[in-house]
Amino acid sequence: MLPLAGQLLFFLLVIGTGNTLPSLRAPPRGCYVAEEAGDRTFRCSQAGLSAVPTGIPNDTRKLYLDANRLASVPAGAFEHLPVLEELDLSHNILAHLSGAAFQGLAGTLRHLDLSANQLASVPLEAFVGLQIQVNLSANPWSCDCALQEVLRQVRLAPGTGTGIVCGPGARPDLVGQEFLTLAGEEELCGVGRGGVRRSTDVALLVIMGGWLVLVGTYLAYYMWQNRDETRCPLKHAPMRQVRCEDSSTLSTMV
Ligand SMILES: *[C@@H]1O[C@H](CO)[C@@H](O)[C@H](O)[C@H]1NC(C)=O
Ligand SMILES: *[C@@H]1O[C@H](CO)[C@@H](O)[C@H](O)[C@H]1NC(C)=O
Repeated sequence: MLPLAGQLLFFLLVIGTGNTLPSLRAPPRGCYVAEEAGDRTFRCSQAGLSAVPTGIPNDTRKLYLDANRLASVPAGAFEHLPVLEELDLSHNILAHLSGAAFQGLAGTLRHLDLSANQLASVPLEAFVGLQIQVNLSANPWSCDCALQEVLRQVRLAPGTGTGIVCGPGARPDLVGQEFLTLAGEEELCGVGRGGVRRSTDVALLVIMGGWLVLVGTYLAYYMWQNRDETRCPLKHAPMRQVRCEDSSTLSTMV
């Protein structure tokens, strides 16, 4: 009887940790390890978590932390997961992302789901260097310059563009508008780096204006001089001399 119970316990432990030898660290409550399409997966969906759990196996490729109560992602929250490819943080109450939230994932992370949270803005630094596809739908975006910069940095998951809508924290005339339509029409980075861009434009205009004035002046001068030449053809081509008003000069010359 006892050996059988022991075997059963061992069997359950093996199943529970996904076919590896049972580790001393049990997964957090409500979380489990699985093998999905050959990828080590860690599922903590609807586990009542209010912080990113510890004890996530370091060979995890897919991590599901959706439908919890996560309010922020601190710096380096996933840096101990060197092969993480897919991260689902959707349906939480995320309002703040650290600029270093995804630190250490630059080489591996491919898919990031931040949809259905409370994000009004995200720091651009959090996405620099990542080659990812993101879902940013269903957040109360303030539709600022940072979001415009982030969208130049990442790719959106197919079909999720229309889900990025400006929330109550946005400029009053933008609330309820789709961000992509808006960002196509308006430069939202007017005071930041965009300001630099704008002043470069002004400098270019001034230079071009200067050139125009120069060219215009030269043209006017050339025409004025040319008119003189047609009147007094002494030093130039004989063909032109025919048009000269003063024909007497021409006859004496010839
Ligand atoms: C996970 O950690 C173990 C022990 O620290 C290490 O031997 C192993 O190479 C790590 N795995 C990955 C994928 O980094
Ligand atoms: C993006 O997020 C929304 C809201 O959570 C969801 O309905 C949609 O299926 C997601 N799309 C993709 C491609 O992940």
